[in-house]
Amino acid sequence: MTQFMDEIEEILKPLVLTNQQLGEIEALLLQSFNEGLRKDTNPVAPVKMFPTFVRDVPDGKEKYAEGKYMALDLGGTNFRVLLLELNGDKFHLDSEVYAVPEIIMHGTGEQLFDHIASCISDFMKQRKVIQYRIPLGFTFSFPCKQEGLTSARLTQWTKGFKCTGVEGEDVVQLLRDAIDKRPDIDVDVMAVVNDTTGTLMSCALKNRECRVGLIIGTGTNACYMETLENVELFSEDFPDVNQVVVNTELGAFGDNKVLNFIRTNWDEEVDTTSLNRGKQLFEKMISGMYLGETVRCILVDLCQKKLLFNGQPSDKLMTPKAFQTAYVSAVESDKEDDYNMTRQVMSAIDHRAATLLDCDVVKMVCKRVSTRAAHLVSAAVATILNKMKRPHTTIGVDGSVYKFHPHFHDLMVAKISELVDQNYTFNLMLSEDGSGRGAALVAAVATKQEHRRKVSLEQMGLYVPPRDGVNRKNSRLELDELVAKINRTNINIT
Ligand code: GLC
Repeated sequence: MTQFMDEIEEILKPLVLTNQQLGEIEALLLQSFNEGLRKDTNPVAPVKMFPTFVRDVPDGKEKYAEGKYMALDLGGTNFRVLLLELNGDKFHLDSEVYAVPEIIMHGTGEQLFDHIASCISDFMKQRKVIQYRIPLGFTFSFPCKQEGLTSARLTQWTKGFKCTGVEGEDVVQLLRDAIDKRPDIDVDVMAVVNDTTGTLMSCALKNRECRVGLIIGTGTNACYMETLENVELFSEDFPDVNQVVVNTELGAFGDNKVLNFIRTNWDEEVDTTSLNRGKQLFEKMISGMYLGETVRCILVDLCQKKLLFNGQPSDKLMTPKAFQTAYVSAVESDKEDDYNMTRQVMSAIDHRAATLLDCDVVKMVCKRVSTRAAHLVSAAVATILNKMKRPHTTIGVDGSVYKFHPHFHDLMVAKISELVDQNYTFNLMLSEDGSGRGAALVAAVATKQEHRRKVSLEQMGLYVPPRDGVNRKNSRLELDELVAKINRTNINIT
């Protein structure tokens, strides 16, 4: 039996990364970061290092304009609408999850944004706020080139989305167009942020040392605070502030083949059947959209080698995506000689007759795949910490894999500690609903800034304020145009 398990270990060996390999990965990632940051190499660099227009983290002293704010969160498995009410030091968050059917995820951009607008309308009716014009923060968790706080051009879809007519377009404009088609709702899109930025902002509100936002969910990505002189693509002139949050889009690390020395045939198989072949290769070894599928490919391979399930995979196991990433977390929550969850997963994939040995093999495959993911993401975090050179940094983390996998956090803490320069310390902080809450916060700050701008416009005789905050679609466009002309949208939370 040990001989049999040794044979399995040998087959799974390519999934075990040594610290030397992780060190090589760190060096390559740092090189990719630098290529993304430099103007001459950025066009061909796979890791795009998009500057956001967020220039500081909250210091806890700022006063947000009191009132209601909304946030939209699009990018994971579900779409969410949130309502945040700020009242002095108190705030109240209310949210609703809406499904985005696959037919919409793969349909036209117009259908997608019409669906979003209809969810906003439904939510505002339910919460009885439809009569108001509410400032809104939009968390759009895909790679975007930002041209301002309210402008984000999608460079390419990632994860499960593939809507036509959106790549190359400004998603805030598409959202506004969809909202403008509806007579019943009126919202003010004040900011668009990536989920990593939202996570960084909401964690920084509670922890002053937070400078990195990390997502390990359906997709994987990180943002961090970078000094301006390293960001050649950011030309905004803001003399007092010498830093900007950079959305790395590190999920695309390896798209230029530099990671081929660690990629396995199973990774190749997962990539071949994905929506975006050859893209997001680092993400495909780490995130929730792919971990379960990687495990499934390995299990099928072991069946074909007659080392599992008596060599006979069920139809279910042969079905792409049938082994969910949640099953990986479930299997690994069983202790060494406990099989309760593993047995349930065996039933779910139509292998009720699995032997104890089969269960042990499945447990080992899950462990190898998730540990590799945790080690790869740790190498990425260590690269960022070593680049930032701060004595202590808090990393705000969100995402289903990090939250629900029983050992991911501990694996990461142990591995980052081994990889990071010993002069730097760190802690991983779970973000509570960071991506949505962060967008609402950015919207609140932007609202306060726009309020200041309106006051100065008013003093210059350029703007006549409405008497109340009610739904008034026509006045908004004029103001937007005027404000855009006079002031390029920027944000500086201090
Ligand atoms: C994908 C997206 C990225 C997002 C990440 C986590 O990598 O491209 O923008 O932050 O998923 O949701």
